[in-house]
Amino acid sequence: MNRRMTLLKTVGWLAIMSSIMLAAGCSGPLEMLSGSGEPAARIARLTWFMLLLGGAVYAVVLITTAVAIRRNRATPDDTPDLTRHGISWIIIGGVILPGLILLAVFIVSLGAMNRDERTQPTLTVSVVGHQWWWKLQYHPDDSTRTFYSANEIHIPVGRTVRLLLSSGDVIHSFWVPTLQGKLDAIPGVINDIRITADTAGIYRGVCAEFCGTQHANMAITVVAESLEDYLVWEAGQLENAHSSADSTSRAGQRLFVAANCAACHRVRGTDANGADAPDLTHVASRMSIGAGVLPMQPGALAGWIANAPAIKPGVLMPRISGLSGSELRLLALYVGSLK
Ligand code: CUA
Repeated sequence: MNRRMTLLKTVGWLAIMSSIMLAAGCSGPLEMLSGSGEPAARIARLTWFMLLLGGAVYAVVLITTAVAIRRNRATPDDTPDLTRHGISWIIIGGVILPGLILLAVFIVSLGAMNRDERTQPTLTVSVVGHQWWWKLQYHPDDSTRTFYSANEIHIPVGRTVRLLLSSGDVIHSFWVPTLQGKLDAIPGVINDIRITADTAGIYRGVCAEFCGTQHANMAITVVAESLEDYLVWEAGQLENAHSSADSTSRAGQRLFVAANCAACHRVRGTDANGADAPDLTHVASRMSIGAGVLPMQPGALAGWIANAPAIKPGVLMPRISGLSGSELRLLALYVGSLK
């Protein structure tokens, strides 16, 4: 009797704990069940279908287990009942029912895949994963309108945007849960993915494939804004870096080239033409530094320039040595002026 009660309690606790864990995962900026746009809605529908079906199966298993424990008519000396009646339980419950359920999941999943290519995109952005940041190229097929950025994708609301995913080193995975499912960014392969945001706002994303020590610090942000706002933003990004009138900023610009920042970074309209690291032409218009590691603020920028590896160990940007405090401030002032 005691053993039976313990088993029944275990079954009850399993049901309660699984409900709590399920409820705990249902909020936050990366919550995928209340997304925006058709691709996200499709994934949410599929998730609910699988969740409810799985929940129903789980409930049936718990109930039949509880019933079996309560009846408990067998004694330890009994041999298993393998008569026709006993075997039919195994065939129906262990083969036919799971087969039908898996078939239903397969069919519904197929219906949720590969629908994106039907819609014509308004905007195409090439997204290349790097350890540990995202290189963005807008309008990669149109040399008159193309420009580079990093980690922060601006898109117009209500329009289909095509992202061409690839990688410059190892396999990454692009995942903005409130807009679309995750898709790998693979070296030498271009994966086509579409996103549409129904409402203006900021959509957070992450790299979802372990890609090295700073995998967790490889954030991606999608900024959805009205078409008018987007076009104003795009026109600003197409311009060269604004050459500053004040002498301090000009000295900062000269130092940027002299201190070798220009070997890796590009600032369009200046002598800085490096292509390996993030394009900094309008870096100060972005919200964060180092793919989401620090907010875009003067102090954070100065700290990052002085010693990026101390903030993001493993990052390719080296610690800058041989510069005085005032020279570092000058560099930070210049980079912070690149709006
Ligand atoms: Cu890139 Cu994980």
